Amino acid sequence: MGSAAEEVREHLLVNVDDDAAGSLKTAKIRVRDLTRQSETTGEAILTKVSLEVPEGVILGIIGPSGSGKSTLLRSLNRLWEPPSSSVFLDGDDICKLDVLSLRRRVGMLFQMPALFDGTVADNVRFGPQLKGKKLSEEEVKKLLSLADLDPSFASKTASELSVGQAQRVALARTLANDPEVLLLDEPTSALDPISTQNIEEAIVRLKKSRRMTTVMVSHSVKQIQRIADLVCLLVAGEVVEVLEPSRLNEAQHPMARRFLELSN
Ligand SMILES: Nc1ncnc2c1ncn2[C@@H]1O[C@H](COP(=O)(O)OP(=O)(O)OP(=O)(O)O)[C@@H](O)[C@H]1O
Ligand SMILES: [Mg+2]
Repeated sequence: MGSAAEEVREHLLVNVDDDAAGSLKTAKIRVRDLTRQSETTGEAILTKVSLEVPEGVILGIIGPSGSGKSTLLRSLNRLWEPPSSSVFLDGDDICKLDVLSLRRRVGMLFQMPALFDGTVADNVRFGPQLKGKKLSEEEVKKLLSLADLDPSFASKTASELSVGQAQRVALARTLANDPEVLLLDEPTSALDPISTQNIEEAIVRLKKSRRMTTVMVSHSVKQIQRIADLVCLLVAGEVVEVLEPSRLNEAQHPMARRFLELSN
């Protein structure tokens, strides 16, 4: 990352939270020279991506379709296996961690929500159950409210939900694992403006109450400006800018500039 990123880091050092200086020493997530080529065509998907996400920070990722946003997100909990020593969680190479506990610590919400057959409550209970913990009805309802769903949804079957409702159940299911990091791939793409605002507020609340670290892909520049502390612009698999949201208009890269102009 260049000097702009350094400046942002300095800014964060001053403004994020009281003990940000401590967490910056070991970023919650650190990506170093992450590169991926297509196994079939050999084309570059990600090229030398380097990033640091301090604990308790919301990092927004924006960029044109096909620029590698989802691939980058998937590398952070090994849904796509990154090369060793390229992604670190609390300073540990994630390739050396047990993959299931990694995915519990680093929860992901997919671009297309996929629920299991069964009820909404079954879906929300799934993760804790793997660890032998059964969530009470109250706990399930609390998680649903956190994800902006009425508690009455608990008994509905997954197949009778709209895409936007399924997206929120998937968020509740991810939160049930009590993750340290949330990876969100366009979490509000199927939601109306009110629900979008509620989910954005929930993400900000999680940051404040649990120091949740969040990496969120969004097509909405305005959304990123509303909630992110830091924005990463990805173009053709490369990080071309890392900026504070309020300084997005200072982006230099021509493709990034065009993308931003058209998105506004
Ligand atoms: N498993 C795979 N094998 C080969 N190529 C892949 C694979 N997954 C993704 N790609 C390619 O990598 C590039 C980046 O894809 P990715 O899904 O990460 O983009 P994106 O930025 O999330 O796009 P969108 O905004 O449309 O969701 C695309 O060209 C895609 O075709
Ligand atoms: Mg994507």
